[in-house]
Amino acid sequence: MTDPKNENRLFWEEEEKKLDDLLQKAMFPGGEKAVEKLAKRGKRPVRELISDLIDPGTEFFELSRIAGFGMDYPGVMDVPCGGLVTGIGKIHDNWTMIFANDSRVKAGTYFPITLKKHMRAQAIATQAGLNCVYIADSGGAYLPMQAEVFPDDQQFGSMFYNMAKMSAKGLKQITLSTGGNTAGGAYIVFMACQSVMIDKLSYSFLAGPPLVKMATGEDISAEELGGARTHTRISGGADHFCPNQDEAVAKVREMLSFEKPQKKYFHRHPEMKPKVSPLSIYQDLPASVNKGVDTRKFLAAIADNSEFSEYKRDYAMGRGDNILTGKIRIKGLTVGIVASNGVGIIFHEAARKATEWIVRCSQEKIPLLFIQSSPGFMVGSDSEHMGIGKYGSDLVRAVSCAQVPKIQLVIGADNGAANYGMCGRAYKPDFIFTTLRSRTSVMSGRSAAGVLLSIEKQKREAQGEPMSAEELKAFNDRMIEKYDGEAHPFYCGARILNDRVVKFTEIRDWLGMAFEVSQLRPIDDPAFGNFRF
Ligand code: COA
Repeated sequence: MTDPKNENRLFWEEEEKKLDDLLQKAMFPGGEKAVEKLAKRGKRPVRELISDLIDPGTEFFELSRIAGFGMDYPGVMDVPCGGLVTGIGKIHDNWTMIFANDSRVKAGTYFPITLKKHMRAQAIATQAGLNCVYIADSGGAYLPMQAEVFPDDQQFGSMFYNMAKMSAKGLKQITLSTGGNTAGGAYIVFMACQSVMIDKLSYSFLAGPPLVKMATGEDISAEELGGARTHTRISGGADHFCPNQDEAVAKVREMLSFEKPQKKYFHRHPEMKPKVSPLSIYQDLPASVNKGVDTRKFLAAIADNSEFSEYKRDYAMGRGDNILTGKIRIKGLTVGIVASNGVGIIFHEAARKATEWIVRCSQEKIPLLFIQSSPGFMVGSDSEHMGIGKYGSDLVRAVSCAQVPKIQLVIGADNGAANYGMCGRAYKPDFIFTTLRSRTSVMSGRSAAGVLLSIEKQKREAQGEPMSAEELKAFNDRMIEKYDGEAHPFYCGARILNDRVVKFTEIRDWLGMAFEVSQLRPIDDPAFGNFRF
Protein backbone atom coordinates (compact mmCIF):
# COMPACT_ATOMS: atom_id res chain seq x y z
CA MET A 1 0.00 0.00 0.00
CA THR A 2 1.24 3.50 -0.77
CA ASP A 3 1.92 5.81 2.13
CA PRO A 4 0.58 9.33 1.35
CA LYS A 5 3.14 10.93 3.67
CA ASN A 6 5.97 9.25 1.82
CA GLU A 7 4.44 10.17 -1.52
CA ASN A 8 4.16 13.81 -0.48
CA ARG A 9 7.77 13.85 0.67
CA LEU A 10 9.09 12.35 -2.55
CA PHE A 11 6.98 14.78 -4.57
CA TRP A 12 8.24 17.89 -2.76
CA GLU A 13 11.85 16.73 -2.86
CA GLU A 14 11.57 16.36 -6.64
CA GLU A 15 9.96 19.80 -6.93
CA GLU A 16 12.70 21.41 -4.87
CA LYS A 17 15.32 19.78 -7.11
CA LYS A 18 13.76 21.64 -10.04
CA LEU A 19 14.03 24.84 -8.04
CA ASP A 20 17.70 24.08 -7.33
CA ASP A 21 18.35 23.67 -11.06
CA LEU A 22 16.83 27.05 -11.77
CA LEU A 23 18.76 28.70 -8.94
CA GLN A 24 22.00 27.25 -10.34
CA LYS A 25 21.19 28.61 -13.81
CA ALA A 26 20.55 32.02 -12.30
CA MET A 27 23.90 32.00 -10.52
CA PHE A 28 26.02 30.95 -13.48
CA PRO A 29 24.78 32.59 -16.67
CA GLY A 30 27.17 31.65 -19.45
CA GLY A 31 28.74 28.88 -17.31
CA GLU A 32 32.48 28.50 -16.68
CA LYS A 33 33.39 30.40 -19.85
CA ALA A 34 31.74 33.55 -18.53
CA VAL A 35 33.54 33.23 -15.20
CA GLU A 36 36.87 32.84 -17.05
CA LYS A 37 36.10 35.91 -19.16
CA LEU A 38 35.48 37.90 -15.98
CA ALA A 39 38.71 36.62 -14.42
CA LYS A 40 40.72 37.75 -17.47
CA ARG A 41 39.49 41.27 -16.77
CA GLY A 42 40.35 41.04 -13.07
CA LYS A 43 36.73 40.55 -12.02
CA ARG A 44 35.02 38.03 -9.77
CA PRO A 45 31.40 36.88 -10.05
CA VAL A 46 29.17 39.34 -8.21
CA ARG A 47 28.07 36.95 -5.47
CA GLU A 48 31.71 36.51 -4.43
CA LEU A 49 32.01 40.28 -4.04
CA ILE A 50 28.81 40.33 -2.01
CA SER A 51 30.00 37.59 0.29
CA ASP A 52 33.12 39.68 1.05
CA LEU A 53 31.00 42.78 1.54
CA ILE A 54 28.73 41.36 4.23
CA ASP A 55 29.87 40.46 7.73
CA PRO A 56 31.87 37.20 7.83
CA GLY A 57 29.77 34.15 8.66
CA THR A 58 26.44 35.91 8.01
CA GLU A 59 23.84 35.02 5.41
CA PHE A 60 22.96 37.00 2.30
CA PHE A 61 19.20 36.84 1.76
CA GLU A 62 19.03 37.04 -2.00
CA LEU A 63 15.69 38.22 -3.36
CA SER A 64 13.92 36.93 -6.47
CA ARG A 65 16.78 34.80 -7.73
CA ILE A 66 14.59 33.08 -10.32
CA ALA A 67 13.50 36.39 -11.84
CA GLY A 68 13.71 36.76 -15.60
CA PHE A 69 13.34 33.19 -16.85
CA GLY A 70 11.03 32.70 -19.83
CA MET A 71 10.40 36.42 -20.41
CA ASP A 72 10.54 36.06 -24.20
CA TYR A 73 11.79 39.60 -24.89
CA PRO A 74 12.76 40.55 -28.45
CA GLY A 75 15.67 38.24 -29.23
CA VAL A 76 16.13 37.22 -25.60
CA MET A 77 14.15 34.40 -23.96
CA ASP A 78 15.76 34.35 -20.49
CA VAL A 79 17.32 37.11 -18.43
CA PRO A 80 18.87 34.96 -15.67
CA CYS A 81 18.26 36.48 -12.27
CA GLY A 82 16.87 39.52 -14.09
CA GLY A 83 20.53 40.44 -14.77
CA LEU A 84 20.69 41.99 -11.30
CA VAL A 85 21.39 40.46 -7.91
CA THR A 86 19.50 42.10 -5.05
CA GLY A 87 19.31 41.07 -1.44
CA ILE A 88 19.70 41.92 2.21
CA GLY A 89 22.78 41.25 4.27
CA LYS A 90 24.45 42.65 7.35
CA ILE A 91 27.33 45.11 7.05
CA HIS A 92 28.81 45.98 10.46
CA ASP A 93 25.69 44.46 11.96
CA ASN A 94 23.36 46.81 10.07
CA TRP A 95 20.90 45.25 7.61
CA THR A 96 21.77 46.69 4.19
CA MET A 97 20.22 46.37 0.73
CA ILE A 98 22.76 45.27 -1.86
CA PHE A 99 22.36 45.58 -5.63
CA ALA A 100 24.80 44.10 -8.14
CA ASN A 101 24.52 44.13 -11.93
CA ASP A 102 25.61 40.82 -13.38
CA SER A 103 27.66 41.80 -16.43
CA ARG A 104 27.46 38.21 -17.69
CA VAL A 105 23.82 38.87 -18.63
CA LYS A 106 23.92 41.17 -21.69
CA ALA A 107 26.48 43.47 -20.10
CA GLY A 108 24.23 44.04 -17.08
CA THR A 109 21.77 46.07 -19.15
CA TYR A 110 18.31 46.90 -17.90
CA PHE A 111 15.35 44.93 -19.28
CA PRO A 112 11.85 45.63 -17.92
CA ILE A 113 12.30 42.79 -15.41
CA THR A 114 15.68 44.22 -14.29
CA LEU A 115 14.00 47.51 -13.55
CA LYS A 116 11.17 45.84 -11.68
CA LYS A 117 13.73 44.04 -9.54
CA HIS A 118 15.72 47.21 -8.91
CA MET A 119 12.54 49.14 -7.98
CA ARG A 120 11.32 46.39 -5.66
CA ALA A 121 14.63 46.31 -3.77
CA GLN A 122 14.67 50.11 -3.49
CA ALA A 123 11.06 50.04 -2.23
CA ILE A 124 11.98 47.50 0.48
CA ALA A 125 15.02 49.60 1.45
CA THR A 126 12.94 52.78 1.59
CA GLN A 127 10.22 51.23 3.71
CA ALA A 128 12.56 49.49 6.14
CA GLY A 129 15.10 52.34 6.20
CA LEU A 130 18.11 50.41 4.89
CA ASN A 131 21.36 51.83 3.55
CA CYS A 132 22.05 50.71 -0.03
CA VAL A 133 25.20 49.51 -1.77
CA TYR A 134 25.18 49.39 -5.57
CA ILE A 135 27.80 47.22 -7.25
CA ALA A 136 27.44 48.86 -10.64
CA ASP A 137 28.44 47.26 -13.92
CA SER A 138 25.84 47.97 -16.54
CA GLY A 139 25.56 48.97 -20.18
CA GLY A 140 22.45 50.96 -19.17
CA ALA A 141 19.13 50.54 -20.89
CA TYR A 142 18.67 47.41 -23.01
CA LEU A 143 18.46 49.46 -26.17
CA PRO A 144 16.12 47.28 -28.28
CA MET A 145 13.47 47.84 -25.59
CA GLN A 146 14.09 51.52 -24.84
CA ALA A 147 10.37 52.37 -24.99
CA GLU A 148 9.69 49.83 -22.25
CA VAL A 149 12.56 50.76 -19.96
CA PHE A 150 13.31 54.44 -20.37
CA PRO A 151 10.55 57.02 -20.16
CA ASP A 152 7.99 56.05 -17.55
CA ASP A 153 7.71 56.23 -13.79
CA GLN A 154 9.19 53.07 -12.25
CA GLN A 155 11.60 52.91 -15.21
CA PHE A 156 15.17 54.06 -15.63
CA GLY A 157 14.91 57.52 -14.12
CA SER A 158 13.22 56.21 -10.98
CA MET A 159 16.44 54.48 -9.90
CA PHE A 160 18.12 57.85 -9.42
CA TYR A 161 15.00 59.56 -8.05
CA ASN A 162 14.87 56.86 -5.38
CA MET A 163 18.58 57.30 -4.60
CA ALA A 164 18.06 61.03 -4.12
CA LYS A 165 15.00 60.56 -1.91
CA MET A 166 16.60 57.87 0.23
CA SER A 167 19.75 59.89 0.66
CA ALA A 168 17.61 62.88 1.72
CA LYS A 169 16.14 60.66 4.42
CA GLY A 170 19.63 59.86 5.68
CA LEU A 171 19.90 56.42 4.07
CA LYS A 172 23.41 56.03 2.68
CA GLN A 173 23.66 55.31 -1.04
CA ILE A 174 27.08 53.90 -1.83
CA THR A 175 28.21 52.89 -5.31
CA LEU A 176 31.08 50.58 -6.09
CA SER A 177 31.60 50.79 -9.82
CA THR A 178 33.23 47.70 -11.19
CA GLY A 179 32.63 48.06 -14.94
CA GLY A 180 31.03 50.23 -17.56
CA ASN A 181 28.41 52.73 -16.49
CA THR A 182 27.36 54.46 -19.65
CA ALA A 183 24.81 57.19 -20.39
CA GLY A 184 21.92 56.94 -17.86
CA GLY A 185 23.89 54.25 -16.04
CA ALA A 186 26.58 56.81 -15.16
CA TYR A 187 24.21 58.44 -12.68
CA ILE A 188 24.51 55.43 -10.40
CA VAL A 189 28.09 56.62 -9.74
CA PHE A 190 27.43 60.35 -9.63
CA MET A 191 24.19 60.23 -7.58
CA ALA A 192 25.77 58.18 -4.79
CA CYS A 193 26.58 59.69 -1.41
CA GLN A 194 30.05 58.27 -1.96
CA SER A 195 31.36 56.23 -4.84
CA VAL A 196 34.34 53.99 -5.41
CA MET A 197 35.98 53.40 -8.77
CA ILE A 198 38.56 50.80 -9.74
CA ASP A 199 41.64 51.46 -11.83
CA LYS A 200 41.18 50.42 -15.48
CA LEU A 201 37.98 48.53 -14.63
CA SER A 202 35.37 51.20 -13.90
CA TYR A 203 34.15 53.71 -16.42
CA SER A 204 31.48 56.28 -16.12
CA PHE A 205 30.44 58.70 -18.82
CA LEU A 206 27.36 60.28 -20.28
CA ALA A 207 28.47 59.01 -23.69
CA GLY A 208 31.15 56.44 -24.48
CA PRO A 209 34.09 57.12 -26.84
CA PRO A 210 32.25 56.06 -30.08
CA LEU A 211 29.35 58.45 -29.41
CA VAL A 212 31.73 61.26 -28.41
CA LYS A 213 33.59 60.77 -31.69
CA MET A 214 30.31 60.93 -33.57
CA ALA A 215 28.98 63.93 -31.70
CA THR A 216 32.07 66.12 -31.39
CA GLY A 217 34.78 64.47 -33.45
CA GLU A 218 36.91 64.09 -30.32
CA ASP A 219 39.11 60.99 -30.27
CA ILE A 220 39.54 59.84 -26.69
CA SER A 221 40.06 56.59 -24.80
CA ALA A 222 37.50 55.32 -22.28
CA GLU A 223 40.13 55.63 -19.55
CA GLU A 224 40.80 59.29 -20.25
CA LEU A 225 37.15 60.12 -20.80
CA GLY A 226 35.71 58.62 -17.65
CA GLY A 227 38.01 56.11 -15.95
CA ALA A 228 38.71 55.86 -12.21
CA ARG A 229 41.63 58.30 -12.35
CA THR A 230 39.66 60.85 -14.33
CA HIS A 231 36.74 60.89 -11.90
CA THR A 232 38.69 60.73 -8.65
CA ARG A 233 41.43 63.22 -9.72
CA ILE A 234 39.89 65.52 -12.31
CA SER A 235 36.08 65.64 -12.31
CA GLY A 236 35.53 64.75 -8.65
CA GLY A 237 32.54 62.67 -9.76
CA ALA A 238 33.81 59.73 -7.74
CA ASP A 239 35.40 59.78 -4.30
CA HIS A 240 37.66 56.78 -3.87
CA PHE A 241 40.25 55.24 -6.18
CA CYS A 242 41.03 51.56 -5.66
CA PRO A 243 43.46 49.34 -7.57
CA ASN A 244 41.24 46.24 -7.61
CA GLN A 245 37.88 44.77 -6.64
CA ASP A 246 39.03 43.39 -3.28
CA GLU A 247 40.26 46.78 -2.08
CA ALA A 248 37.10 48.42 -3.40
CA VAL A 249 34.92 46.07 -1.36
CA ALA A 250 37.06 46.75 1.72
CA LYS A 251 36.66 50.50 1.11
CA VAL A 252 32.86 50.21 1.12
CA ARG A 253 32.99 48.27 4.38
CA GLU A 254 35.28 50.94 5.83
CA MET A 255 32.83 53.72 4.90
CA LEU A 256 29.88 51.90 6.44
CA SER A 257 31.81 51.16 9.64
CA PHE A 258 31.08 54.76 10.66
CA GLU A 259 27.30 54.22 10.59
CA LYS A 260 25.24 54.24 13.78
CA PRO A 261 23.74 50.90 14.83
CA GLN A 262 20.21 50.50 13.47
CA LYS A 263 17.38 51.07 15.94
CA LYS A 264 15.26 48.01 16.58
CA TYR A 265 11.57 48.28 17.42
CA PHE A 266 10.98 44.72 18.58
CA HIS A 267 11.49 42.63 21.66
CA ARG A 268 13.21 39.30 21.15
CA HIS A 269 12.18 36.50 23.50
CA PRO A 270 14.67 33.68 23.89
CA GLU A 271 14.73 31.85 20.55
CA MET A 272 13.59 28.23 20.59
CA LYS A 273 13.67 25.66 17.80
CA PRO A 274 10.33 24.08 16.85
CA LYS A 275 9.69 20.81 18.70
CA VAL A 276 8.22 19.46 15.47
CA SER A 277 10.87 19.19 12.76
CA PRO A 278 10.43 21.51 9.75
CA LEU A 279 11.07 18.36 7.69
CA SER A 280 7.56 17.21 8.66
CA ILE A 281 6.22 19.83 6.22
CA TYR A 282 7.40 17.66 3.32
CA GLN A 283 5.14 14.85 4.52
CA ASP A 284 2.19 16.86 5.73
CA LEU A 285 1.60 19.28 2.84
CA PRO A 286 -0.43 17.41 0.23
CA ALA A 287 1.15 17.20 -3.21
CA SER A 288 -2.19 18.20 -4.73
CA VAL A 289 -2.98 21.87 -4.28
CA ASN A 290 -6.69 21.01 -4.29
CA LYS A 291 -6.42 19.07 -1.04
CA GLY A 292 -6.91 20.73 2.34
CA VAL A 293 -4.04 21.62 4.65
CA ASP A 294 -3.77 20.96 8.38
CA THR A 295 -2.34 24.37 9.16
CA ARG A 296 -1.94 23.72 12.88
CA LYS A 297 0.61 21.04 11.94
CA PHE A 298 2.32 23.48 9.58
CA LEU A 299 2.50 26.13 12.30
CA ALA A 300 4.00 23.59 14.71
CA ALA A 301 6.82 23.04 12.21
CA ILE A 302 7.74 26.72 11.90
CA ALA A 303 6.95 28.23 15.33
CA ASP A 304 9.40 28.51 18.23
CA ASN A 305 8.82 25.54 20.52
CA SER A 306 5.97 24.57 18.11
CA GLU A 307 3.71 26.83 20.17
CA PHE A 308 0.59 28.38 18.65
CA SER A 309 -1.56 30.44 20.99
CA GLU A 310 -4.85 30.25 19.12
CA TYR A 311 -7.52 32.94 19.20
CA LYS A 312 -11.22 31.95 18.91
CA ARG A 313 -10.34 28.30 18.33
CA ASP A 314 -13.91 27.10 18.83
CA TYR A 315 -15.74 29.83 16.94
CA ALA A 316 -18.11 28.62 14.17
CA MET A 317 -16.36 25.29 13.73
CA GLY A 318 -16.38 24.03 10.15
CA ARG A 319 -16.52 27.57 8.71
CA GLY A 320 -14.83 29.97 11.14
CA ASP A 321 -11.77 27.72 11.36
CA ASN A 322 -11.04 27.94 7.64
CA ILE A 323 -8.87 30.79 8.86
CA LEU A 324 -6.81 30.31 12.01
CA THR A 325 -5.83 33.30 14.11
CA GLY A 326 -3.43 33.58 17.02
CA LYS A 327 0.18 34.23 17.92
CA ILE A 328 3.45 32.40 17.43
CA ARG A 329 7.07 33.36 17.89
CA ILE A 330 9.60 33.07 15.11
CA LYS A 331 13.22 33.21 16.32
CA GLY A 332 11.97 34.91 19.46
CA LEU A 333 9.86 37.54 17.65
CA THR A 334 6.13 37.65 18.35
CA VAL A 335 4.00 37.37 15.23
CA GLY A 336 0.21 37.57 14.75
CA ILE A 337 -1.10 34.75 12.56
CA VAL A 338 -3.86 34.87 9.95
CA ALA A 339 -3.68 31.48 8.24
CA SER A 340 -5.89 29.60 5.81
CA ASN A 341 -6.82 26.17 7.11
CA GLY A 342 -8.38 23.05 5.61
CA VAL A 343 -9.64 23.75 2.11
CA GLY A 344 -9.29 27.44 2.92
CA ILE A 345 -12.59 28.69 1.42
CA ILE A 346 -13.37 31.88 3.31
CA PHE A 347 -16.83 31.83 4.94
CA HIS A 348 -18.21 35.00 6.47
CA GLU A 349 -17.40 33.77 9.99
CA ALA A 350 -13.75 33.28 9.05
CA ALA A 351 -13.64 36.74 7.44
CA ARG A 352 -15.13 38.34 10.59
CA LYS A 353 -12.73 36.52 12.89
CA ALA A 354 -9.71 37.46 10.78
CA THR A 355 -10.80 41.11 10.60
CA GLU A 356 -11.20 41.26 14.37
CA TRP A 357 -7.76 39.71 14.85
CA ILE A 358 -6.03 42.07 12.42
CA VAL A 359 -7.51 45.04 14.30
CA ARG A 360 -6.34 43.59 17.63
CA CYS A 361 -2.79 42.99 16.36
CA SER A 362 -2.72 46.51 14.91
CA GLN A 363 -3.78 47.85 18.30
CA GLU A 364 -1.05 45.81 20.01
CA LYS A 365 1.47 46.77 17.28
CA ILE A 366 2.29 43.16 16.54
CA PRO A 367 3.38 42.33 12.98
CA LEU A 368 1.21 39.95 10.97
CA LEU A 369 2.00 36.79 9.06
CA PHE A 370 -0.59 35.81 6.46
CA ILE A 371 -0.31 32.16 5.50
CA GLN A 372 -2.25 31.87 2.28
CA SER A 373 -3.83 28.70 0.99
CA SER A 374 -7.27 29.83 -0.11
CA PRO A 375 -9.11 29.37 -3.40
CA GLY A 376 -11.51 32.22 -2.59
CA PHE A 377 -14.53 33.41 -0.65
CA MET A 378 -17.61 31.17 -0.33
CA VAL A 379 -20.13 31.81 -3.10
CA GLY A 380 -23.88 31.14 -3.39
CA SER A 381 -27.09 32.65 -2.04
CA ASP A 382 -26.60 31.48 1.57
CA SER A 383 -23.23 33.12 1.71
CA GLU A 384 -24.33 36.29 -0.12
CA HIS A 385 -27.32 36.70 2.20
CA MET A 386 -25.14 36.20 5.28
CA GLY A 387 -23.05 39.12 4.04
CA ILE A 388 -19.91 37.51 2.58
CA GLY A 389 -19.48 40.59 0.38
CA LYS A 390 -19.48 43.08 3.25
CA TYR A 391 -17.50 40.88 5.66
CA GLY A 392 -15.02 40.12 2.91
CA SER A 393 -14.69 43.86 2.29
CA ASP A 394 -14.13 44.44 5.99
CA LEU A 395 -11.27 41.93 5.83
CA VAL A 396 -9.81 43.63 2.78
CA ARG A 397 -10.12 47.00 4.54
CA ALA A 398 -8.42 45.68 7.67
CA VAL A 399 -5.58 44.22 5.59
CA SER A 400 -5.21 47.46 3.63
CA CYS A 401 -5.14 49.73 6.67
CA ALA A 402 -3.25 47.57 9.19
CA GLN A 403 -0.21 49.74 9.91
CA VAL A 404 1.90 46.91 11.33
CA PRO A 405 4.50 45.07 9.22
CA LYS A 406 2.78 42.41 7.11
CA ILE A 407 4.36 39.38 5.52
CA GLN A 408 2.64 36.91 3.23
CA LEU A 409 3.69 33.27 2.86
CA VAL A 410 1.86 31.29 0.19
CA ILE A 411 1.56 27.52 0.71
CA GLY A 412 -1.35 26.68 -1.58
CA ALA A 413 -4.12 28.19 -3.67
CA ASP A 414 -4.00 31.97 -3.97
CA ASN A 415 -7.00 32.87 -6.05
CA GLY A 416 -9.39 35.73 -6.61
CA ALA A 417 -10.43 37.94 -3.73
CA ALA A 418 -8.75 35.59 -1.25
CA ASN A 419 -5.51 37.04 -2.63
CA TYR A 420 -6.73 40.45 -1.41
CA GLY A 421 -8.04 39.31 1.95
CA MET A 422 -4.85 37.37 2.65
CA CYS A 423 -2.56 40.29 1.83
CA GLY A 424 -1.43 39.75 -1.77
CA ARG A 425 0.96 42.09 -3.59
CA ALA A 426 -1.55 44.94 -3.96
CA TYR A 427 -1.89 45.14 -0.16
CA LYS A 428 1.76 46.03 0.14
CA PRO A 429 3.08 43.34 2.46
CA ASP A 430 6.67 44.08 3.48
CA PHE A 431 7.65 40.76 1.91
CA ILE A 432 5.97 37.94 0.00
CA PHE A 433 7.48 34.48 0.12
CA THR A 434 6.02 31.54 -1.73
CA THR A 435 6.67 27.85 -1.65
CA LEU A 436 6.50 25.38 -4.51
CA ARG A 437 2.92 24.61 -3.49
CA SER A 438 1.71 28.15 -4.22
CA ARG A 439 -0.61 28.81 -7.16
CA THR A 440 -1.40 32.50 -7.72
CA SER A 441 -4.08 33.30 -10.30
CA VAL A 442 -7.49 34.90 -10.57
CA MET A 443 -9.02 31.43 -10.45
CA SER A 444 -7.84 27.85 -10.79
CA GLY A 445 -7.19 26.42 -14.25
CA ARG A 446 -10.24 24.19 -13.93
CA SER A 447 -12.60 27.06 -13.03
CA ALA A 448 -11.16 29.40 -15.64
CA ALA A 449 -11.48 26.75 -18.31
CA GLY A 450 -15.14 26.23 -17.34
CA VAL A 451 -15.97 29.95 -17.52
CA LEU A 452 -14.09 30.59 -20.75
CA LEU A 453 -15.47 27.46 -22.35
CA SER A 454 -19.08 28.47 -21.67
CA ILE A 455 -18.40 31.89 -23.29
CA GLU A 456 -16.72 30.31 -26.30
CA LYS A 457 -19.53 27.74 -26.68
CA GLN A 458 -22.19 30.46 -26.70
CA LYS A 459 -20.22 32.49 -29.23
CA ARG A 460 -19.80 29.53 -31.56
CA GLU A 461 -23.46 28.54 -31.22
CA ALA A 462 -24.52 32.10 -32.09
CA GLN A 463 -22.31 31.88 -35.17
CA GLY A 464 -24.09 28.64 -36.10
CA GLU A 465 -20.87 26.63 -35.69
CA PRO A 466 -21.22 24.68 -32.44
CA MET A 467 -17.99 23.23 -31.04
CA SER A 468 -17.30 19.55 -31.62
CA ALA A 469 -16.44 17.27 -28.70
CA GLU A 470 -12.77 17.34 -29.78
CA GLU A 471 -12.75 21.12 -29.94
CA LEU A 472 -14.35 21.36 -26.51
CA LYS A 473 -11.73 19.09 -25.01
CA ALA A 474 -8.83 20.85 -26.77
CA PHE A 475 -10.09 24.27 -25.63
CA ASN A 476 -10.55 23.04 -22.07
CA ASP A 477 -7.07 21.47 -21.93
CA ARG A 478 -5.46 24.58 -23.40
CA MET A 479 -7.05 26.85 -20.81
CA ILE A 480 -6.12 24.58 -17.91
CA GLU A 481 -2.54 24.44 -19.13
CA LYS A 482 -2.36 28.23 -19.54
CA TYR A 483 -3.90 29.09 -16.17
CA ASP A 484 -2.03 26.45 -14.21
CA GLY A 485 1.20 27.47 -15.94
CA GLU A 486 0.73 31.14 -15.10
CA ALA A 487 -0.15 30.34 -11.48
CA HIS A 488 3.04 28.32 -10.96
CA PRO A 489 5.67 29.73 -8.58
CA PHE A 490 8.31 29.60 -11.35
CA TYR A 491 6.15 31.77 -13.60
CA CYS A 492 5.28 34.15 -10.75
CA GLY A 493 8.84 34.14 -9.42
CA ALA A 494 10.19 34.99 -12.88
CA ARG A 495 7.94 38.06 -12.90
CA ILE A 496 8.74 39.11 -9.31
CA LEU A 497 5.20 38.61 -8.04
CA ASN A 498 6.92 37.37 -4.89
CA ASP A 499 10.22 38.19 -3.21
CA ARG A 500 11.57 34.65 -3.03
CA VAL A 501 10.43 31.11 -3.68
CA VAL A 502 11.61 29.40 -0.50
CA LYS A 503 12.12 25.74 0.31
CA PHE A 504 10.16 24.40 3.28
CA THR A 505 13.31 24.13 5.37
CA GLU A 506 14.21 27.77 4.66
CA ILE A 507 10.92 29.28 5.84
CA ARG A 508 12.00 30.05 9.40
CA ASP A 509 15.23 31.79 8.37
CA TRP A 510 13.48 33.97 5.81
CA LEU A 511 10.65 34.87 8.18
CA GLY A 512 13.16 35.58 10.94
CA MET A 513 15.02 38.02 8.69
CA ALA A 514 11.83 39.60 7.35
CA PHE A 515 10.22 40.24 10.75
CA GLU A 516 13.45 41.75 12.02
CA VAL A 517 14.05 43.98 8.99
CA SER A 518 10.42 45.14 8.88
CA GLN A 519 10.66 46.23 12.52
CA LEU A 520 13.60 48.57 12.08
CA ARG A 521 11.00 51.32 11.81
CA PRO A 522 8.59 52.42 14.53
CA ILE A 523 4.98 51.27 14.15
CA ASP A 524 2.36 54.03 13.86
CA ASP A 525 -0.95 54.09 15.69
CA PRO A 526 -3.78 52.19 14.00
CA ALA A 527 -6.38 53.93 11.83
CA PHE A 528 -9.07 52.08 9.92
CA GLY A 529 -11.77 53.51 7.68
CA ASN A 530 -15.44 52.68 7.68
CA PHE A 531 -16.04 49.06 8.51
CA ARG A 532 -19.53 47.73 7.74
CA PHE A 533 -19.57 44.99 10.45
N1 COA B 1 21.63 47.38 -25.13
C1 COA B 1 21.50 46.16 -25.64
N2 COA B 1 22.49 45.26 -25.65
C2 COA B 1 23.67 45.64 -25.12
C3 COA B 1 23.89 46.91 -24.60
C4 COA B 1 22.79 47.80 -24.60
N3 COA B 1 22.87 49.00 -24.03
N4 COA B 1 25.14 46.99 -24.13
C5 COA B 1 25.71 45.78 -24.38
N5 COA B 1 24.82 44.97 -24.99
C6 COA B 1 24.99 43.56 -25.36
C7 COA B 1 26.03 43.36 -26.44
O1 COA B 1 25.44 43.53 -27.71
C8 COA B 1 26.48 41.94 -26.18
O2 COA B 1 25.47 41.07 -26.66
P1 COA B 1 25.86 39.59 -27.21
O3 COA B 1 26.41 38.86 -26.03
O4 COA B 1 24.57 39.02 -27.70
O5 COA B 1 26.88 39.80 -28.28
C9 COA B 1 26.43 41.82 -24.67
O6 COA B 1 25.53 42.85 -24.24
C10 COA B 1 27.79 42.03 -24.03
O7 COA B 1 28.31 43.27 -24.47
P2 COA B 1 29.86 43.51 -24.73
O8 COA B 1 30.02 44.84 -25.41
O9 COA B 1 30.44 42.32 -25.42
O10 COA B 1 30.40 43.54 -23.24
P3 COA B 1 31.68 44.30 -22.69
O11 COA B 1 31.81 43.84 -21.30
O12 COA B 1 32.83 44.16 -23.60
O13 COA B 1 31.28 45.87 -22.69
C11 COA B 1 29.91 47.79 -22.19
C12 COA B 1 30.29 46.34 -21.84
C13 COA B 1 28.71 48.15 -21.32
C14 COA B 1 31.07 48.71 -21.86
C15 COA B 1 29.59 47.88 -23.70
O14 COA B 1 28.72 46.79 -24.04
C16 COA B 1 28.88 49.15 -24.10
O15 COA B 1 29.51 50.18 -24.19
N6 COA B 1 27.56 49.09 -24.35
C17 COA B 1 26.77 50.21 -24.78
C18 COA B 1 26.41 51.06 -23.61
C19 COA B 1 25.54 52.25 -23.99
O16 COA B 1 25.89 53.04 -24.82
N7 COA B 1 24.39 52.31 -23.34
C20 COA B 1 23.50 53.38 -23.54
C21 COA B 1 22.19 52.99 -22.97
S1 COA B 1 21.65 54.04 -21.65
